[in-house]
Amino acid sequence: MRKRNASRTQVPRRGIGAFAAALGGLLLLSSLYLWLIGAGRHRLPGEAPVGGAFTLTREDGSVVTDRDFRGSYLLIYFGYTSCKDVCPATLGNIAAALDRLGGAASDVRAVFITVDPERDTAPVVRRYLSAFSPLLVGLTGTAADVRHVAGAYRVTVSVRAAGGGADRYEVDHSAVIFLMGPDGAFRTAISADASPAAIAATVMRTMR
Ligand code: NI
Repeated sequence: MRKRNASRTQVPRRGIGAFAAALGGLLLLSSLYLWLIGAGRHRLPGEAPVGGAFTLTREDGSVVTDRDFRGSYLLIYFGYTSCKDVCPATLGNIAAALDRLGGAASDVRAVFITVDPERDTAPVVRRYLSAFSPLLVGLTGTAADVRHVAGAYRVTVSVRAAGGGADRYEVDHSAVIFLMGPDGAFRTAISADASPAAIAATVMRTMR
């Protein structure tokens, strides 16, 4: 009988202990969640961040990662060199925006990432970008690496047969300019058809 009584008095104490542990765990989880959503990512809770780590090959053949661009504002644009419509116009506008930024352009790097690594090898990208601006950085990589970085930026890519052979295809892709901060975090998105003045103004406003 005494034994039973003793165990009965222990039940509520154990219950309080379990409750306190659960509450502590809950507080720990919610603070971890708040830390995660606030960790340098400009986004709303429940929304995946734009951007992320990548390892790609530059137009000069060197291998670079996202960390190599820390300290600079980045204008990132995904496209491909045989694109006839949006890409040439957007790259031209980005190059003109860098001219407009003048001295402030030294804090900005413009990066073109191909969504067509099959055809856009480093030499092809280098030749293509030289027509726009010596300041443009071009990135390519393996199909898997390009798919990874496009996914991180939520850029959709789909290949469309153009007829006349396996190498004759077009690549439909999201056309948006991503402005990333010196910390590598997403700042804002700029429409691919924005004028050089509008691109430069957004960069200046973000840098302030
Ligand atoms: Ni394009």
